[in-house]
Order: sequence, then structure tokens, then C-alpha cells
Amino acid sequence: MPAKIPAPLCRRLEKAARAAAKASYSPYSKFRVGAAVLAGSGKVYTGTNVENASYGLCNCAERTAIFSAIAAGERSVKAVAVYTPTKTTTSPCGACRQVINEFGPTALILSVCNSAERSETTLDRLLPAAFGPRDLSRRRKA
Ligand code: THU
Repeated sequence: MPAKIPAPLCRRLEKAARAAAKASYSPYSKFRVGAAVLAGSGKVYTGTNVENASYGLCNCAERTAIFSAIAAGERSVKAVAVYTPTKTTTSPCGACRQVINEFGPTALILSVCNSAERSETTLDRLLPAAFGPRDLSRRRKA
């Protein structure tokens, strides 16, 4: 079960995701994305999408934020907020869902945009029957 995250903290994450989108490097898609991660320690890490002339190397905002958290020594993710300057909300892509699963299989996923629309779900709802670290544990091997 995901830990209950107080509403003011959710709003703080959403605000941080909104601010993070300002640094978006997205000259190819022109699709600016900001993300904020609430890590196990309680600290908030942000990220934005970083594109590349070699398109396949583009990195999503969510993964930028998670990798920053992990690089800072964090090992769990409690919540991820995603912001896009659109009328409707954006949900993390499949690759990001898999990366979130590694550190927060039941993490809260918040999506906000430039309208009143917002969405609140959990990673296990977005990525049911996920493949994760436990699938590689020695116990499971024949
Ligand atoms: N993108 C994200 O950063 N996060 C998402 O959840 C969806 C997609 C980025 C990747 C790429 O830079 C651009 O948006 C268009 O796909």
C-alpha cells in the first residue's frame, strides 16, 4: 500500500514539477515536462526532459528526477509528480513506469497541467504485474 502523503506535500511536489519544466531541453518535440520525486528520506528531487539530436537518447523528466535522487544516495521513491504545460494531464511513459517500479512499486503518481485537470494514481495501477528486483532474487531460481 502507498504511504498516505499529506495534501500540502502533494501540492509542493506539483509546484516543484511545474518549476522544473522551465529548464526543459526539448528543441525537437517542444514538449516541456517537469517532474518532482518525493524520496524515502523526505527530500524532493526534480528533473526535466533532456532531448538529443540523436532522438533515441532523449531522457524523460521523471527519469532525470529519479536518477538525481538515486545519485544523491536515495533508494526509494514515495511519489512522483509530473507537469506538462498542456490542457490535459500526462502520465509517465512505459520506460519511466519501469524505472519508478524499481524504487517505488506502490508510489503515488500525480499529474498536473495548465487546466484544472489533475490525476492521482499509483504505480502498481499504471504497471500491473510488473517485472522488478524480486524477480531476479536467488530464491526464485530453479
Ligand atoms: N516525456 C517526458 O519527459 N515525460 C513523459 O511522461 C512523457 C514524455 C518527454 C520525452 C520527450 O522529450 C518529449 O516528452 C516528447 O516525448
